[in-house]
Amino acid sequence: MGTQMTTWITICDTCKRTGWEESGQETTDGENLARLIEAAAQGVPDLRTRRVSCLMGCKAGCNVAIQAADKLNYTIGDFEPLQEAAEGIVAYAAKHAASETGQVPYREWPQAIKGHFVTRHPPLPKGDE
Ligand code: FES
Repeated sequence: MGTQMTTWITICDTCKRTGWEESGQETTDGENLARLIEAAAQGVPDLRTRRVSCLMGCKAGCNVAIQAADKLNYTIGDFEPLQEAAEGIVAYAAKHAASETGQVPYREWPQAIKGHFVTRHPPLPKGDE
């Protein structure tokens, strides 16, 4: 498969949810979610993951972007760094990869991502369109 088919899961690794400071944890909520997503995405075809520091949605972390060239791209957020969230994000991203436009029918959304969509970015126009 070429890179055109690849859906990238970009995980903010600096997100801290309310209460993180008092929790005494050494790793951020974003790092914890990133680790879970990376493990869940291991070996899934047409999926890649990467970490970035801050997606500018800090008030409602943890935040993740789902992107592929020439497809609808999404920001999803307000996730707890839990296995269930990570698995839902990866399952959704796999459907995004399989979709020609990036649109995934609502009936196919994993429960864990419902209510977590923040923005949708249409693909850029091509040429003189
Ligand atoms: S720290 Fe995660 S969006 Fe800013």
